[in-house]
Amino acid sequence: MIPISRPLTGPEEMKAVEKVFSSAWLGLGSTVLEFERAVQEYLGVKHAVAVNTGTSALHIALAGFGIGPGDEVIVPSITFAACVQSILALGATPVFAESHEDTLLLDVDDVKKRLTKKTKAVMPVHYCGNPCDLDALWALAEDRGLRVIEDAAHAFGSDYHGRKIGARGDAACFSFDPIKNITTGEGGAVVLGDDEAAERIRRMRILGIDKDTWLRYKNTRSYFYEVVSPGFRYHMPNFCAAVGLEQLKKLPGFIARRRAICRRYDEAFSGLKDVKPLKVDYATTAPHIYIVRVPEGRRDEFMELLKARGVGTGLHYIANHEQPYFKKYAASPLPRAESLWRRIVTIPLHCALSDADVETVIAAVQEFDRKDGAGRPAPGRIGKRVMP
Ligand SMILES: Cc1ncc(COP(=O)(O)O)c(C=O)c1O
Repeated sequence: MIPISRPLTGPEEMKAVEKVFSSAWLGLGSTVLEFERAVQEYLGVKHAVAVNTGTSALHIALAGFGIGPGDEVIVPSITFAACVQSILALGATPVFAESHEDTLLLDVDDVKKRLTKKTKAVMPVHYCGNPCDLDALWALAEDRGLRVIEDAAHAFGSDYHGRKIGARGDAACFSFDPIKNITTGEGGAVVLGDDEAAERIRRMRILGIDKDTWLRYKNTRSYFYEVVSPGFRYHMPNFCAAVGLEQLKKLPGFIARRRAICRRYDEAFSGLKDVKPLKVDYATTAPHIYIVRVPEGRRDEFMELLKARGVGTGLHYIANHEQPYFKKYAASPLPRAESLWRRIVTIPLHCALSDADVETVIAAVQEFDRKDGAGRPAPGRIGKRVMP
């Protein structure tokens, strides 16, 4: 089976991890500082705070900008559950918004309709690595005194108007989980320009303990400590940072390969009658996943045909306002999100795919498109079947 994603690591990462283990300073330390500096330099941003997951990055980025109980945060309904949980973890309320049909990016006009006096932040998601309309969001944020906390989990290495995603704005949050554009095993980072917010977030990452980070960066620590703010144990350990440093060196090659695969898919799928790729500009996007839309009611048929041809598929993501735990926050209708998530399928995209794998995927997708869809189940049924 060709998997939809997998990490690409080699002896370089193993050697780097071995070095950290032989130093016996495995946790937060000098390798994390080195990784943070490398991320800062790559993105062109003043601060990078490395953490243990993308989810914790979202959580402490919101917290660092003072989001808390009584506040509303607007978030696309179609995104990973991590966005919603990070908002709820602070006692704030998620307000679900629509995404665009042909990009899955947050619809800023719809965001405007959902603003209230309680709105404090917007969390756009750079879906598949494709940047959202940040200019429109930043203008809105300035006008209404909001924060824009970007979920850039998919977008490490993508460009927006000639600068890296994360280089501008309040804060961007990356994930370095095993299948992201680069991995640290598990990990994430908050990147931002504001000195005070960066200091708050850095402290929050390690239990709100003052100055501890700076000592640990030198692979040492103090036995006297002061807890001066709320905090969590969210830091990235040295051995994960060591993996990240090696992955960063490989990133240009990873991006080039991912783009080449996406362009080949786009070319092969242009003009298909039933299978529609998303619209993504691969000149600027460092693509994380590749999603196609199929007719409503035929998603299982598509997934099953690909499975029979040895091709794995996935679903990114189920609309959160339909999730059992989140549906109480679905205050107003989201018809586009409800239709859209039932029609999206993720097909394989990663750097370990061979050209022959890519052609196998294409042949299976084209075979599906040649079918007429007769005998398909009623719309809606397929979607309900995959709900947890
Ligand atoms: C859009 C999005 N946001 C947030 C996250 C959370 O990242 P992590 O898995 O590193 O916690 C992910 C990870 O899959 C994601 O895809």
